[in-house]
Amino acid sequence: MCGIFGCVLKEGNAAPLIHSSLKRLEYRGYDSVGIATISEGKIFVKKDMGKIDEVDRIVDLDDMPGSIGIGHTRWATHGAPLKVNSHPHGDCKGEIMVVHNGIIENFLELRAELQNLEHTFVSKTDTEVIPHLIEQTLKNNPKLSLVEAILETLKRVEGSYALAVISTREPDKIICARNESPLVLGIDSNGVYCASDIPAFLPITNKAVMINNGELVILSAKGYEIKKICDSSPVVREPITIEWSPEMAVKQGYPHFMIKEIHEQPETIRNTLRMQDHYLDLLSTFLDRANEVFLVACGTSYHACLAASYMFSKLAFLPTYPVYASEFVEQHGKSVSIDSTILAVSQSGETADTIGSVTCAQQRAATILSLTNVIGSSLTRVSRVYIGTQAGPEIGVAATKTFTSQLSVLAQLALRLAKKRGKVSQDEIDCLEEQLARLPNTVETIVNTQEQKIKEIAKKYKDAKVFFFLGRGISTATAFEGRLKLMEIAYIPAIAFPAGESKHGPISLIEDGFPVVFICPRDETHRTVIGNIMEMKARGAHIIAVIEEGDEDIKSLADDYVEVPKGIPGVLSPIPFVVPLQLLAYYTALAKGCNPDMPRNLAKCVTVK
Ligand code: F6R
Repeated sequence: MCGIFGCVLKEGNAAPLIHSSLKRLEYRGYDSVGIATISEGKIFVKKDMGKIDEVDRIVDLDDMPGSIGIGHTRWATHGAPLKVNSHPHGDCKGEIMVVHNGIIENFLELRAELQNLEHTFVSKTDTEVIPHLIEQTLKNNPKLSLVEAILETLKRVEGSYALAVISTREPDKIICARNESPLVLGIDSNGVYCASDIPAFLPITNKAVMINNGELVILSAKGYEIKKICDSSPVVREPITIEWSPEMAVKQGYPHFMIKEIHEQPETIRNTLRMQDHYLDLLSTFLDRANEVFLVACGTSYHACLAASYMFSKLAFLPTYPVYASEFVEQHGKSVSIDSTILAVSQSGETADTIGSVTCAQQRAATILSLTNVIGSSLTRVSRVYIGTQAGPEIGVAATKTFTSQLSVLAQLALRLAKKRGKVSQDEIDCLEEQLARLPNTVETIVNTQEQKIKEIAKKYKDAKVFFFLGRGISTATAFEGRLKLMEIAYIPAIAFPAGESKHGPISLIEDGFPVVFICPRDETHRTVIGNIMEMKARGAHIIAVIEEGDEDIKSLADDYVEVPKGIPGVLSPIPFVVPLQLLAYYTALAKGCNPDMPRNLAKCVTVK
């Protein structure tokens, strides 16, 4: 997710201001930091891996000349968190410097093209193609201004970006641009600022100008000038006044990180769906060749594995074994061998039980693959191949956006594997890929249309002594995750079962008014789920159903219901269906006066067994 910042000052040095502003963006990533300033026509760069304070102690980030500069704090996506991959990135001559937040999807093609034109690349990042492409554009047409060259460049770039560029060619300005990654300007009497987020400049100014997708901005001593990238036409936009306190601003006005992160999911899923093809290919090739596949994780990440086991089975006809990492060594340690493949899933990449399982499997020559949100974590270091989930840092202790990102990668992997194995028709794959691409919008609709209703449901049931969460098939995983969320932040005991299992014991708990949450996608389990709802209802349970829009059959049975948009294939359903459950947990915690960001006895990263 990364944070970028830039400033053009009328008076004073840019570097100390960039440094302090980046500190306020550190919540967006802290793998490395870098600053480039421009003074008397020369560019100065300081950058290194590590947190801002660590790097500052070594290189003194404040000690750089010039009143214009750009900075970056990184959350690694392409390329390990090393100095060489730290931003800013430059062209061959070091005359153009770029900081970037986002993902350039076609960077491999662009890099190959530029390498054929003798450009030398030093990093493994996608970003580095941008300065080289600007350089090449100017070489092809030296009459172009810097802005024109950047506009040309952006037309060739596919993917998401918020970027800021400085160049010795026109040393009096910063040019920044946005497509899908956030970008906002700050304005005061001493200068203009660009940043990924308002907190970066909030102590300096509360006058902000929001930049929209497809816009480019020129920052100079004269102020700011916005243009549309598609046709260079001017855009007029006045600053607005931000009323947030600095503390509120870090949470972008949300009262808690958890709700901010729930709302971020359309963006984080969209980013995760931009997965580079070759990583998916590589991982699916390993899975295809595997004799036995264990999906190993803890907590929420385990629930992603459970859902994935249905995806792999249904789409790729690949049986996999989801296992709690804390049980893996006892349960399977001795039988793991060179023929085993472990796909470990971990948001943090540091969970002790997950790392312990992987280390045990590695000692027995198994193949280790992984999925994590933290590139450079212990898990990435022990994996043969890993994929990053692109969710950005998750600060709320309860995992939300990282769960839907994990599922988004796992669904893509299952589809890739299905293609490889020829198990599902091309038509079906095309249709599922289309549906997957629509999920960010689906999740956005759910949050926008159902939040208020869920708040009311949470108030209604906040004093329940216990909850049931039931689903069939892949929705079992969704039910497990809904239960975990509610328990961990609202402290309500909750029980989750595959709905079919509920008859084999748990149903004896049901009495009048007992809340039972049913997960009801319109898949092949729908009819049987109706039967299970009737069984519960007959015993006095209150049914809270998560249904597809217009599911009149279940609506007529439910006491309360939350609707998700129509047409979601069952195999992808955990991604949208979990969102109402995250909201239910959040608003129940609030209704009970609990702080959802800091549940008692829990830590974001569990590094003890
Ligand atoms: C629940 C939650 C935990 C984590 C678990 C594994 O909201 O966050 O259950 O999912 O501790 O953590 P990672 O994914 O970092 O291995």
